[in-house]
Amino acid sequence: MKPAPLSFGPLKLATPLLLSPLAGYTNLPFRLVIRELGSVGLCTTDLVNARSLLEKNRKALKLIESAAVDTPLAVQLFGAVPHEMAEAARYLESVGVASVDINMGCPVRKVCQVGGGSAMMTELDRTAALVRGMVEAVRIPVTCKMRLGWDDENLTAPELARALEEAGAAAIMVHGRTRQQGFDGSVNLAGIRRVVEAVRTIPVIGNGDITSPEAARIMLESTGCAGVSIGRGAFYNPWIFAHTQHYLETGELLPEPEFAERIRVMTRHFNLMLEVFGENLGCTMFRKVGPWYAKRFGPASFFNKGIVRVSTHAELFALLEQYVKWRHQFLGEDGLLLPRYASAPVSLNFRDEDTAEASVPAAARRKSIPVPAGPNELW
Ligand SMILES: Cc1cc2nc3c(=O)[nH]c(=O)nc-3n(C[C@H](O)[C@H](O)[C@H](O)COP(=O)(O)O)c2cc1C
Repeated sequence: MKPAPLSFGPLKLATPLLLSPLAGYTNLPFRLVIRELGSVGLCTTDLVNARSLLEKNRKALKLIESAAVDTPLAVQLFGAVPHEMAEAARYLESVGVASVDINMGCPVRKVCQVGGGSAMMTELDRTAALVRGMVEAVRIPVTCKMRLGWDDENLTAPELARALEEAGAAAIMVHGRTRQQGFDGSVNLAGIRRVVEAVRTIPVIGNGDITSPEAARIMLESTGCAGVSIGRGAFYNPWIFAHTQHYLETGELLPEPEFAERIRVMTRHFNLMLEVFGENLGCTMFRKVGPWYAKRFGPASFFNKGIVRVSTHAELFALLEQYVKWRHQFLGEDGLLLPRYASAPVSLNFRDEDTAEASVPAAARRKSIPVPAGPNELW
């Protein structure tokens, strides 16, 4: 299947593949790495509190820090006070952001308690009015990211999506789980399809558990969505956008990147972290990033033990040198990892009934993909 071009409002995306917001992860260094590897159509920041942004809170400003090549960029806002959300959108437009996304899916109590995040899915009229106010305040597209609903008895996403389209939303991003599900169970593709069917003209972007090019194809084909948004899959595999675009265009699956390429990209990510956050904070933040790359190194206990102590640029490179020596014991004569030590392939987590028709080997239908640990465990 040749992916159709995706555009919303005045924004024409190079590919229909989007980077989902991942609080604590989708910072400038990660977005730059993803962009350098190619084929991402739009990147979104972590969610940003609208009020903090208006108050020019230092942390909020850091979350929207960008660079000339970090484009097109969407900033995700959360908040429930209409004039603050509209004003924050206006500010983002004034600093050159390409589109504004509204968080309507966050299940975290702190966000829901103030009427933001997934609480918005339960208050249709109020939410539509808030969106209308933002749409009227700016010329850049305003998009909405939601879950399927609060729980299985309240799958409000189709109705909400329709109301938001009426209010002027330019696109809908939908994670195919309910708020109650958290990250449990599997993604409900039929639920996403109902959202696609509910809107009149705006694009719906499907999201959830896309960890491979085939998973993206299944999401696109079985829901009719106009694009897909990838979160954890991009952390697992920053090459996923380039590989997926190639697969969608040609039907060919590119080989997995080799170890040397993984190290190259990981160290690029590390250097960007230090550039953007400084050596001290950058190293500390990288302690949770490195192990994601290491998941595909083969045996990596030596690396994972060492990375949590890295606090300087030099220490990371010393660790890598030692790790490469240690890893040697797992290589064959050809210098490649012996097959028995290779990491298991990352695979799908869609409902069996949704994928039964698709050409997915049963063994590839794994039941869960890890949720990054940390303060955002509940996402
Ligand atoms: C650590 C983490 C942080 C997240 N932060 C956000 C966020 O800031 N805003 C948001 O709308 N969704 C957030 N999400 C949800 C993701 O954007 C996405 O909807 C979800 O992870 C499902 O997609 P995936 O399976 O591709 O990761 C977060 C998810 C995780 C795991």
